[in-house]
Amino acid sequence: MTQQVGELNPPYRLMLTPGPSSVDPRVYRALATPLVGHVDPWFRGCMDDVQVLLRQIFQTENRITMPLSASGSGGIEASVVNTLEHGDEAIVAVNGTFSDRMAVIAGHTPAKVTKVEAPYGQPVDPEDVRRAGKGRKIKIVGFAHGETSSGVITNIDNFRKVADELGALLIVDTVASLAAVPIDVDRQRIDICFSGTQKAISAPPGMSPITVSPRGEEAFRTRKTKVQSWYFDLTTAMNYWGKDRLYHHTPPVSLIFALREAMRMVMEEGLEARWERHRLNQLALIAGIEAMGLELLVKNPRDRLPTVTAVMIPHGVDDAKVRNQLLDEFNIEIAGGLGPLKAKIWRVGLMGHCSQKSNVLMFLAVLEKVLLDQGFGVPSGAGVGAAVRSYTHVDTAAAVSR
Ligand SMILES: Cc1ncc(COP(=O)(O)O)c(C=O)c1O
Repeated sequence: MTQQVGELNPPYRLMLTPGPSSVDPRVYRALATPLVGHVDPWFRGCMDDVQVLLRQIFQTENRITMPLSASGSGGIEASVVNTLEHGDEAIVAVNGTFSDRMAVIAGHTPAKVTKVEAPYGQPVDPEDVRRAGKGRKIKIVGFAHGETSSGVITNIDNFRKVADELGALLIVDTVASLAAVPIDVDRQRIDICFSGTQKAISAPPGMSPITVSPRGEEAFRTRKTKVQSWYFDLTTAMNYWGKDRLYHHTPPVSLIFALREAMRMVMEEGLEARWERHRLNQLALIAGIEAMGLELLVKNPRDRLPTVTAVMIPHGVDDAKVRNQLLDEFNIEIAGGLGPLKAKIWRVGLMGHCSQKSNVLMFLAVLEKVLLDQGFGVPSGAGVGAAVRSYTHVDTAAAVSR
């Protein structure tokens, strides 16, 4: 009982992980601003700002648009528990741990859930979803736009087409892609789209922005049974985030401040410039990784998620030793593989604030040193050189087109 607990003093890490990403100092300052009450008239204005920014980033006019007080998994849960009830059928396209999580959570509802799978490292073929749903009454089709466990991106429009043919609502997990990759909720007619604050938005973890189309709202209205979850019932949660601002639960006010500032930064940069930044930094990283003699899990360049690059661990190299050295000697965190990809891949995240040229070049230089220490020979400077050429090529092309 006499044990003393010291002052909080975490190390300074560069989080090149698939989330959370490092955040800008402006976001830390917002996080530390004085608290106000969650029903304070001033805070209502702050909530308006958050919803304006969320609608801009999701590119939607949807009335139900709010940050859930929950991490990204809460977004999955809210999407499926609000749509599914007894007698319904769902199809979830599964190509990794997080899309599988959607199927698992949907399996907690009374609905019948069918998984349509693809090997980790590839997107699910929408044709397979069409075949699985043919002749059945499917309520929702769900998938992860960015599958963080394998670094795969899935084309939204192809899945919308199939969901239309099946008469189903389309649920899209954009936890790893929103604010880094083009997503236009209204134009792409996504019925429920959710994300997480800790990835390309670059705010702290703990909230899940979500938006629901009028068609999705209609499905909520016509339910025959109560939503299984009180906390994640989006209709009642909107009593707080809607015009009445009626108490539902006490939201994480400081996180909302931080999210507001992070989203202001997203819109100051501009969505298109941000998408391009993520694309170019990943191209440079990939050029460097390949020049070092390493392979990628995702073979088709079209399927590569710009925020997460899955690198195959070379034969004879110890996964944990490399990641530990990166962390202990260089304060850089990357992630290992999950599930069947454990000890097979490294996942390097370039998300939001972390997707910077300087991080790419520094990481490639450091990785060369660590791999050499672990006995894996890398041509000296090959990674950095290839990344520099990748950037120079783009700069030259841009200068020529000016
Ligand atoms: C695509 C995807 N969906 C859902 C989640 C779950 O989010 P959280 O860990 O914030 O609950 C993650 C987390 O990495 C993710 O990458």
